[in-house]
Amino acid sequence: MTDIQELLLSRIRDVADYPEPGVMFKDITPLLADPAAFTALTDALAEVATNTGATKVVGLEARGFILGAPVAVRAGLGFIPVRKAGKLPGATLAQAYDLEYGSAEIEVHAEDLSADDRILIIDDVLATGGTAEASIRLIRRAGAEVAGLAVLMELGFLGGRARLEPALKGAPLEAV
Ligand code: PRP
Repeated sequence: MTDIQELLLSRIRDVADYPEPGVMFKDITPLLADPAAFTALTDALAEVATNTGATKVVGLEARGFILGAPVAVRAGLGFIPVRKAGKLPGATLAQAYDLEYGSAEIEVHAEDLSADDRILIIDDVLATGGTAEASIRLIRRAGAEVAGLAVLMELGFLGGRARLEPALKGAPLEAV
C-alpha cells in the first residue's frame, strides 16, 4: 500500500449498522475535512482522467459530485452530474436499475453528452455496482463513450467489479 493509500484509508470512518442494521457504512467526511487527503485524492483521480483520455467527468449523486467536481477542474475538463430522478430541469435521459428491495432511477441532461465525448465516471464507493452499471448504460445511450470508472474505494466482497466487467467493455475500473 502506498503512503497516499494509507492516508486516504486512515481518513475513512467505518460506521456500523448505518443506515440499517448489518451495514458497515464508509463515511468519507473525515477525508473531505482533511485538505492533504482531499487534495491527494483529487490529484490521483485527475491523473486517471488524464491517463484515460477523458473529455468530461461524470459524477454520481451525491458523493460522486463532491469528488468529481474538483477532479474535473484539476484535469481541465467539464463536469456532468448524473442525478437521482426528478432533480434535473431540462430534457433528460433516464435509466432504471434494481436495488435489493425495489428499484431506482438516475438521469442526465441529454444535451451534456455528445458522440465526441469520452467520459470518466467518478464515485466514492463501488458496492454492488448497480449505480455504476446504470450510469454506463446512460452514457452509452446518450451516444458518448465510457473512458473508465474511478472510485475512492471498492467493497470487493459485493462483487461490483465482476458485475461491471461486461458493461465496461475493456474500459478501466480504477480504485484509488
Ligand atoms: C452510494 C455510493 C454509490 C452507491 C454504490 O450512494 O455513494 O453511489 O451507493 O452502491 P452500488 O454499487 O451498490 O450501486 P447512495 O445511493 O447511498 O447515494 P448518496 O451518495 O446520495 O447517499
